[in-house]
Amino acid sequence: MTSPAKPDPLSRRRFLGGAAIAGAGLAGTGLAHAETGKPDPLITEVQDWSRYLGEGVDKRPYGTPSRFEKHVMRRDVSWLTASPESSVNFTPLHELDGIITPSGLCFERHHGGIADIEPANHRLMIHGLVDKPLVFTMEDLKRMPRQNRIYFLECAANSGMEWRGAQLNGCQFTHGMVHNVMYTGVPLKTLLAEAGVKTNAKWLLLEGADSSGMNRSLPLEKALDDVLIAFAMNGEALRPEQGYPLRAVIPGWEGNLWVKWLRRIEVGDQPWQAREETSKYTDLLADGRSRRFTFFMDAKSVVTNPSPQAPLKQKGRNVLSGLAWSGRGTIKRVDVTLDGGKNWQHARIDGPVLDKSLTRFYVDFDWTGQDLLIQSRAMDSTGYLQPTKEELRKIRGTNSIYHNNGIQTWHVKANGETENVEIG
Ligand code: MTE
Ligand code: CO
Repeated sequence: MTSPAKPDPLSRRRFLGGAAIAGAGLAGTGLAHAETGKPDPLITEVQDWSRYLGEGVDKRPYGTPSRFEKHVMRRDVSWLTASPESSVNFTPLHELDGIITPSGLCFERHHGGIADIEPANHRLMIHGLVDKPLVFTMEDLKRMPRQNRIYFLECAANSGMEWRGAQLNGCQFTHGMVHNVMYTGVPLKTLLAEAGVKTNAKWLLLEGADSSGMNRSLPLEKALDDVLIAFAMNGEALRPEQGYPLRAVIPGWEGNLWVKWLRRIEVGDQPWQAREETSKYTDLLADGRSRRFTFFMDAKSVVTNPSPQAPLKQKGRNVLSGLAWSGRGTIKRVDVTLDGGKNWQHARIDGPVLDKSLTRFYVDFDWTGQDLLIQSRAMDSTGYLQPTKEELRKIRGTNSIYHNNGIQTWHVKANGETENVEIG
């Protein structure tokens, strides 16, 4: 916003000596900056981008973000894994808005690097307890009835470093193993109907074509419900790192099940007890026993701004922003506290509220410069309320890795700096 003020002799002089330019009339009016009351040369003087021709349409056949957005990127935590091929990087949640994750910023998790697959040479096989084993090419799949659906994918290990206390400083690292895109694909039930599933079938094995050949057992019931065999995300072909040319989409369930570079589906009558469902992706409980097959991702939320990588910059008017999601349905309500849980208010949800999708919320607030202890807690359409970390630890202990959906706390200090903390 601007308001009238005394003409600035400096910018007037520059204007008089300068070329005749678009917007030059502003110089004489002496418009001042709303906050400082001082004249702002960025509006009274002509900048280079107004003075010279811009780049032509032939320079960017595939567009990329502005060069001033280079800091918006996936990041990894170097000490977390031994090699980049079996590793993870994180979505920069604090730099994003709305509910769709841009394809190039979706976190990546691979066990054997990114498979480089020529789609013409890719096949999907369905076999096992079926009347007719089938092999599909990509072209075959693209001639079958398809659907478009927006879903979040969350790795079960998201927030896994936080079980023993606040650790990583940034929502990118504490919560960035989640992304939300629109998938295009063929319902798995269509493919299974074509193969003819035998009556004693109960489970499927999904297997990837990457060097890790990652595989997981999936209950047939889920496969016949809402699973998609997707070839596109956000309107274009899947990205290589997201499973090009084909991936499984298992709405609301842990990311590990969403097999990328999908090449084989075997139909059976019991789970396979694969590595990823025995040695990994089981939840160690406080009493020492392990819980198998925790498929659902329960309701969770996080305030993305402010957060450690996005501190508060200015007193007065501010926007708190965050994300909420549930693997069991839609988000019904998000509560936010600024004082460590003494007072809660309902956040303002804006944008689409979709089943098993990220949902965006805001709290428009005035910051007087006092310390804040910010938390958000999501309630989903089943009535389930996101638990505190202490409530989770009572059941799960502190030796868990997976399925940490506890309430996150950010401490905003008087200088705006923001830190990952826990309060008792
Ligand atoms: N599929 C294959 N074939 N290989 C893999 O390493 N990683 C799994 C799953 N599917 C994996 C895979 C894990 S643990 C997760 S969380 C998701 O893919 C990550 O999907 P993304 O890389 O699109 O974020
Ligand atoms: Co994962």
